[in-house]
Amino acid sequence: MKRLLIVAHAPSPNTRRLLDAVLAGARDPAIDGVAVTALAPLDAGPDDVLAADALILGTTENLGYMSGALKDFFDRSYYPCLEKTQGLPYALWIRAGHDGTGTRRAVESITTGLRWRAVQAPLVCRGEFDEAFVGQCRELGTLMAAGLEAGVF
Ligand SMILES: Cc1cc2nc3c(=O)[nH]c(=O)nc-3n(C[C@H](O)[C@H](O)[C@H](O)COP(=O)(O)O)c2cc1C
Repeated sequence: MKRLLIVAHAPSPNTRRLLDAVLAGARDPAIDGVAVTALAPLDAGPDDVLAADALILGTTENLGYMSGALKDFFDRSYYPCLEKTQGLPYALWIRAGHDGTGTRRAVESITTGLRWRAVQAPLVCRGEFDEAFVGQCRELGTLMAAGLEAGVF
């Protein structure tokens, strides 16, 4: 059984819907070789990352940056993971009211330092909430779990 960890900040009904969609996609009934765990960033730490075979990160953009909660997760996890998680496959989604660029740059600079491997382009759900975001998030979850199960990462 492979292990997929989702670490996501979902502070509003819309962002909760996006997280639920990622989870539903990752737990697609056709995928039975992957155990999926979702944690809020403040509840997640380096031990959770070390136990995972792949990771999905989710955050809002707040004041041009990732959520403080996700930054705190990185602050606590960076050095304990640094020598041990190189090559970890990960994906990222961002919910941004109007931009998302600063968050993408900030997360990617940290994951580059960690030598984690982005296995798909970041999904930026930008602007007014759009129902299409839900399907995109579901697809992101399915692609990660299916890829992990198939051993393509
Ligand atoms: C204090 C605050 C700062 C924000 N800063 C940004 C920002 O810098 N860039 C951006 O794209 N959206 C920003 N937003 C919008 C949030 O990203 C958005 O409201 C959040 O992702 C939740 O999405 P929802 O409103 O659809 O629930 C901000 C929201 C708040 C409350």
